[in-house]
Amino acid sequence: MEKLAITDLDLTGKRVLVRVDFNVPMKGTTVSDDTRLRASIPTIQHILDAGGLPVLMSHLGRPEGQRVAELSLEPVGRVLQTLLGREVVSVSECVGPEAVAAVKNAETGTVILLENLRFHKEEEVNAPGFAIQFAELGDIYVNDAFGTAHRAHASTEGVTHYFSECAAGLLMQKELDYLGGALDEPVEPFVAVIGGAKVSGKIDVVEHLLSKVNVLLIGGGMAYTFFKVMGLEIGKSLLEEDRMGVAEAVLKKAEDAGVRIELPVDCVVAPDLGEDVSTTVVPRDAIPRDQESADIGPETRERFGELIATAKTVVWNGPMGVYEMTPFSQGTEAVANALAQATERGATTIVGGGETAAAVADMGLVDRISHVSTGGGASLEFLEGKDLPGVV
Ligand code: 3PG
Repeated sequence: MEKLAITDLDLTGKRVLVRVDFNVPMKGTTVSDDTRLRASIPTIQHILDAGGLPVLMSHLGRPEGQRVAELSLEPVGRVLQTLLGREVVSVSECVGPEAVAAVKNAETGTVILLENLRFHKEEEVNAPGFAIQFAELGDIYVNDAFGTAHRAHASTEGVTHYFSECAAGLLMQKELDYLGGALDEPVEPFVAVIGGAKVSGKIDVVEHLLSKVNVLLIGGGMAYTFFKVMGLEIGKSLLEEDRMGVAEAVLKKAEDAGVRIELPVDCVVAPDLGEDVSTTVVPRDAIPRDQESADIGPETRERFGELIATAKTVVWNGPMGVYEMTPFSQGTEAVANALAQATERGATTIVGGGETAAAVADMGLVDRISHVSTGGGASLEFLEGKDLPGVV
């Protein structure tokens, strides 16, 4: 996907309005995970190095058009200031005279952070009268908010109609290069690992990937709907009865396309889910009626690991079990480790954002994966083959 990039533009003396995704997890007014802030730094630094003024705008949470004190970006600005090692001026509005004055009066070398875009209901409805006001805050518009690129909002889509130069930031470019590269020109063998609780949340990804991958590994809660289609007893495991038809169609489509789909061969079951439950490993055709499966078993871990080891490109989205509970975390850990090892052997490994990225971060493996996406919903929609408004 050829896009104008920030590196194609002369930024000297320019006000560069950058849509970032600073929708970071907060505990009260403390940022509990600064991954997205750190991911935005190369773009901000690039603008500063080129002699431009970065004017940053983002949403935080879902205040739905109300000014909610706990969702102010001001504390986020303080963390950014520490990370950047230079002044970040937080402005208490994102449009209007106060924002315009802040940009006008900004000193060279500082960074401006505008207030939460979603304090205005016009942001999410993409109101043209709101979007046009951004034109007063910059000479160039840059979108670096991959995590919000699936939203057609005023700051991601509407704004582009009022700037003659719109470009992708360095993070946006990196995300598109990795995710787009895997889908468009994967070095084969291409193995995808798809998990997560529900078939309904991932079915479009599975269908889209079927025409791209050599092997598709399916784990997580969604596997049990496939088991049911195969006539297996699944006990109290997750079932989406209304998706059985879709699951059946996927198995058929894979067979027609010559794609190998691997489902778990063994499972970790327990009478109930919890931190202290005692678990049993059973083959997939022996799940007891009164028990629930919540992770892939050791034989599956080994099988999935071997298949990942053969790959030159791996895309992973969705945990293999209820990994946040220790008794059911081993499947997700095994896949994460297998990706890290594949990376060391020269494969390109990509982790979709959201809870899969959080799991990889918990395990301290981020640096051993080629690319961990900062987008949850956005990476999912990208893998579904959808056009993202913020990219378009
Ligand atoms: C995200 O965290 O997925 C993005 O920032 C988008 O947030 P939203 O789902 O509230 O639009």
